[in-house]
Amino acid sequence: MIKKELKITFTEYDSEQELAPEEQDLLKKARSASDLAYAPYSNFFVGAAILLENGVIVTGNNQENVAFPSGLCAERVAIYTAGAQYPNVAIRSIAITCKSKQFHVGEPLSPCGACRQAMSEYEMRHNKNIRIILAGETGKIRILDSIADILPFMFKAEQLKKK
Ligand code: THU
Repeated sequence: MIKKELKITFTEYDSEQELAPEEQDLLKKARSASDLAYAPYSNFFVGAAILLENGVIVTGNNQENVAFPSGLCAERVAIYTAGAQYPNVAIRSIAITCKSKQFHVGEPLSPCGACRQAMSEYEMRHNKNIRIILAGETGKIRILDSIADILPFMFKAEQLKKK
């Protein structure tokens, strides 16, 4: 028996002003996208903004449904929009933020497992790490260099090829 350890590194910033201008702009766009979310059931508004390698920014927000599981998270709305509109362009970074009508979000959003899986597909598809910028309404801003960092032991294509 052997105990092993997994290690990830990430950066935390105390304020938005400490981010590079390109990242501040992306986070602003994610905040604007969250304003347009359709979240009448949870009152939890999530926005995502994706910066593509060609400089284009694609946004998305959560789209809820009265049949709850039919709704979709902001990250997947954004990443599937990017995949649909710019299938051959790699993704440089994604900023994700959230706010609630019922409470104050003072810590960075933690993307759900399904969205982590969906975003990781695009790292593999373009063979390029995606920088991920996570923020709440206020509080620290967390940045990781790769989606893989928040999805340990992820299911990978190689596993499909095994006999
Ligand atoms: N939500 C997202 O859009 N992204 C996440 O990573 C977590 C949750 C949405 C789904 C639902 O509309 C609301 O937030 C509450 O779960």
